[in-house]
Amino acid sequence: MAQKIIIDTDPGVDDAMAIHLAFADPRLEVVGLTSVFGNVWVEQATRNALYLAEMAQYDCDVAAGASKPLHIVPNDPSHFVHGDEGFGDLPAQSPKKPADTRPAHIYLSETIRAHSGDIILCPVGPLTNIAKLLEYDPEIVAHVQKVVIMGGSGYAPGNVTPFAEANIWNDPHAADIVFAANWTVEMIGLDVTTKVECSPEDFADLAKAAPDIGGFIKESADFYIRFYESVIGRKVCLMHDPSAIIAITDPDFFTYESVPVSVIVEGKEIGRTMPMPKSDYPDLNRPDVRIATGVNAKAVREAYLSLSAQMDNAAKARKSNQA
Ligand code: RIB
Ligand code: CA
Repeated sequence: MAQKIIIDTDPGVDDAMAIHLAFADPRLEVVGLTSVFGNVWVEQATRNALYLAEMAQYDCDVAAGASKPLHIVPNDPSHFVHGDEGFGDLPAQSPKKPADTRPAHIYLSETIRAHSGDIILCPVGPLTNIAKLLEYDPEIVAHVQKVVIMGGSGYAPGNVTPFAEANIWNDPHAADIVFAANWTVEMIGLDVTTKVECSPEDFADLAKAAPDIGGFIKESADFYIRFYESVIGRKVCLMHDPSAIIAITDPDFFTYESVPVSVIVEGKEIGRTMPMPKSDYPDLNRPDVRIATGVNAKAVREAYLSLSAQMDNAAKARKSNQA
């Protein structure tokens, strides 16, 4: 039986890689995508999520989520990283299927309850929808199998400031609510995702193996790789969001440290995720978070590339099954 997941996403170049990876992996069943602001405006994120599902002939739900953070003044979208429409230089698309009529947090509550215990929630954008879900339905913690997020950083520097990773920085209050709730959270953060790299040659090979979807991924990655070259001087793509998907299918590729996490919500270090060991903070009343602190980066990269090479074949198989 495939593992059911819902991906909460701000697509986004690496979000697209993660979502198409999940669509192509027979071990996963993507029940739905929920959109959130972050890399792009939420309207773009919703449209992009619908387009990714349509491109892959994947019949999953898409529900539109939050357009801004809970409390802080919104940061601008990361168009300089992901492109004006979210997929590098590629133009906006017009997917045919409409989004679900429910807002993301209500869609999440009703869908997770309908599959109680069976769904892994995989947020790879700011955690605003997840915090709104907890506010709307606090008992949902008993119905989610676990939450596997791409975000934060246990001990590595941030990527938008020296202290903060982008998804947390974009809504620190929401992240702190998510880490304080009584459920199982696995944090696939910069400690590990910055070690998983793909090269322009990898994406060129992917485009040969899967000309349709791999070609789209290569086109959108080209823009993203130019950003990384401008920042770190190397033509690479850091595989942030795909690493969270692979942490679900291949958890043994990672090692974890279990420790409570708090989020700094103001000041110079806003968005920093702070491990808070019970020995140092005995009065802190919040559950452990499983922080991924180690990764077999070679295995994660190879899993991403080998599974993604099947993206077009998986889409063609779905299309013929739908005929
Ligand atoms: O810091 C990387 C994260 O921020 C990724 O999820 C990327 O898509 C952006 O949302
Ligand atoms: Ca993302």
